[in-house]
Amino acid sequence: MKNKGLIFSVAVIVVVLAGSLFAFELGKRNSGNAQSEETKKVSILQYVSHPSLDDIRQGVEDGLAQSGYKEGENLELEFQNGQGDQSKLATMSQQLVEGNPDALVGIATPAVQSLANETSDIPIMLGAIADPVGSDLVDSMERPGGNMTGVSNQVPIDQQLDLAKELLPEAKTMGILYSSSEDNAKPQVVEAEKEAKKQDFKTERYAVPSSNEIQQTIQAMDNVDFIYIPNDNTMANAMSTIVNEADKKNIPIIPSVDIMVEEGGVATVGIDQHELGVKTGEMTADILNGDDPAKTPVYVYDEGETYVNQKQVEKYNIDLPKNLEDEAEFIDR
Ligand code: TRP
Repeated sequence: MKNKGLIFSVAVIVVVLAGSLFAFELGKRNSGNAQSEETKKVSILQYVSHPSLDDIRQGVEDGLAQSGYKEGENLELEFQNGQGDQSKLATMSQQLVEGNPDALVGIATPAVQSLANETSDIPIMLGAIADPVGSDLVDSMERPGGNMTGVSNQVPIDQQLDLAKELLPEAKTMGILYSSSEDNAKPQVVEAEKEAKKQDFKTERYAVPSSNEIQQTIQAMDNVDFIYIPNDNTMANAMSTIVNEADKKNIPIIPSVDIMVEEGGVATVGIDQHELGVKTGEMTADILNGDDPAKTPVYVYDEGETYVNQKQVEKYNIDLPKNLEDEAEFIDR
């Protein structure tokens, strides 16, 4: 009798335990889409401050939140800004990796490269990287192969130079202004030269070692009918200086980003920068939920909208074609 009672109690305990374990597992699985009780940690490294990267960073947070990861609830966010300084980037990358986050996000190529030097285990998300393969970050866009995946922004250079031709039909020579120290700039320069040929523009390269040389470089431009600026962080950071100098010399600017139009470029076909960040944030959430970066294709943005700066169009006496009057977004400074 006594034994029977004992066996019965043990059986009840076993059933109850098994049941609660099952319920717990089920609960875990149901919360798969991010409402996990567990707090995850994401550490972001931004290369430098400029309006595009600031927008992307905000987008990353918004994308994470939309995917169920909210700061202070189930997400701990750490953020560092390298201020365009390589040695700062290296120290910050080291610190961020030592904090052992669940995922790292690098905004702009030099930030990702610096993080990649510190870890090949922790997932690193690419935040708007121009050329992930050429910058040696992934094996291929479809199958990255390592600890990195994320978002690439491929500037629609062909459309941008089409637009340049439409707005500046008399222009003969395009000066390309970029930084000699950014890996993301070079492939765009090569691409811009290729596309320029199709439009019958001659090209002149103006590579600057740092923002200190921008002013004198523009002052020394000779026979340049317009300036093209690729997705270059050093240039984006120095846009007000560039616009100032170029306006003094009456050289219009066709930049690669809408925000640079807002800052005094004439017009472009630009990709929404905040949207790039949102997508990066959403993909970060997928990785936090267990996706493998090695097998997650890099998402490519390559389409944009036309943006025109009305003031600059007037300053440079540009005749706007009718189709642009109707279709373009007008930005005023
Ligand atoms: N694509 C750039 C890189 O790979 C980063 C970037 C995103 C950027 N948006 C930009 C640079 C706008 C200049 C302007 O580093």
